[in-house]
Amino acid sequence: MTSSVYIHIPFCSHICTYCAFTKFYYDKNMTSDYLNSLEKEIKTRYQGEIIKTLYIGGGTPSSLDILELERLFQIIKIFKLDKDYEFTIEVNPENLTLEKIKLFKDNKVNRISMGLEATNEKFLNYLGRHHDFNLVKEKIALLKKYGFNNINVDLIYALKDETLDDVKLDLENILSLNVSHISTYSLMIEDNTILKIKGENEINEDLDYLMYELISNTLKSHGYVHYEVSNFAKVGFESKHNLVYWNNEEYYGFGLSAASFIGNTRITNTNNLNKYKLGNYFREIEELSYKDILSYALILGFRKIKGINKKEFFNRYQVELDSLYNIKELIKDKKLIDKDGNIFVSYDKIYVENNILINFVGE
Ligand SMILES: C[S@@+](CC[C@H](N)C(=O)[O-])C[C@H]1O[C@@H](n2cnc3c(N)ncnc32)[C@H](O)[C@@H]1O
Ligand code: SF4
Repeated sequence: MTSSVYIHIPFCSHICTYCAFTKFYYDKNMTSDYLNSLEKEIKTRYQGEIIKTLYIGGGTPSSLDILELERLFQIIKIFKLDKDYEFTIEVNPENLTLEKIKLFKDNKVNRISMGLEATNEKFLNYLGRHHDFNLVKEKIALLKKYGFNNINVDLIYALKDETLDDVKLDLENILSLNVSHISTYSLMIEDNTILKIKGENEINEDLDYLMYELISNTLKSHGYVHYEVSNFAKVGFESKHNLVYWNNEEYYGFGLSAASFIGNTRITNTNNLNKYKLGNYFREIEELSYKDILSYALILGFRKIKGINKKEFFNRYQVELDSLYNIKELIKDKKLIDKDGNIFVSYDKIYVENNILINFVGE
């Protein structure tokens, strides 16, 4: 049963140096055409299920003007929301206005995800961001004033010339915001980004790990639960939408380049605007075998610090979790831990959990 929806808004008021997402410079005509196409796609594909989590990401949804956002919310009214829904929208500080905050509130948004990325001017410039930390403080205060208590901020670390002290300062600044959720990502130099074209490199892995450790220890000691490799939340504020992905549950993805997982099928939408406008929504449709589905369940599930519940796994896939691949051996080697009904990656290995999993799932 599909009960989650992701919607991609591919417009930004500026392009960041590290970003490889599907996005364009904001353009009024393009936006209007896009929203019309998005409405068509949703009306064609949505089957009327009750939706528990809705996530509008990008791109920068907050780069749309008020009328465009109103149109977007009009389109979204098609979804039947569960009583206990989570509805997130991604925003950037520089184009989030009081009017937009009020509009979000009036349209049932109950979670905000803000791209903070860094708090030091030098690093914000390196990332090509168009805001400063004072603006973040101002906008977070405004969001709280208008009743938003479920706020995430994204941080990128492991930047060129960044020291552990710089990360410490970012963390102090972020903690002063007192938000309910923090996502932290080590900078990846992706193809077709400004940083890649400039010949920039990722930093040394050992320093990257020390930064990760500093972030985890600091956030945990300030009451945040480390619940997924890159994510921290105050108790009860874990992202329900992202947990759908990590729990290998079904979701719709609408819009350019969005991904869906429905039944046994993974669908990736086209990233070509012209094709999308013509109604050729799909770029790739992959029918998954039972083995593929199990592999996804492991790769995604072991990202969670609590790991995978053995009983739930058996009920869903009719196979014992520890009978798969070389899980028993990994437990013996203490890379995986089998405790209280769950199997999870040993906490001191969570940073390299991907490497551990590739060893067996990647075959
Ligand atoms: C979909 S993007 C957010 C879009 C939103 N417009 C913004 O700028 O915040 C989600 C997050 O992924 C992270 N991210 C994107 N590209 C990255 C990269 N190359 N390396 C590390 N983190 C990245 C950033 O923290 C970003 O906020
Ligand atoms: S990081 Fe966000 S604001 Fe920057 S270009 Fe990518 S989607 Fe746009």
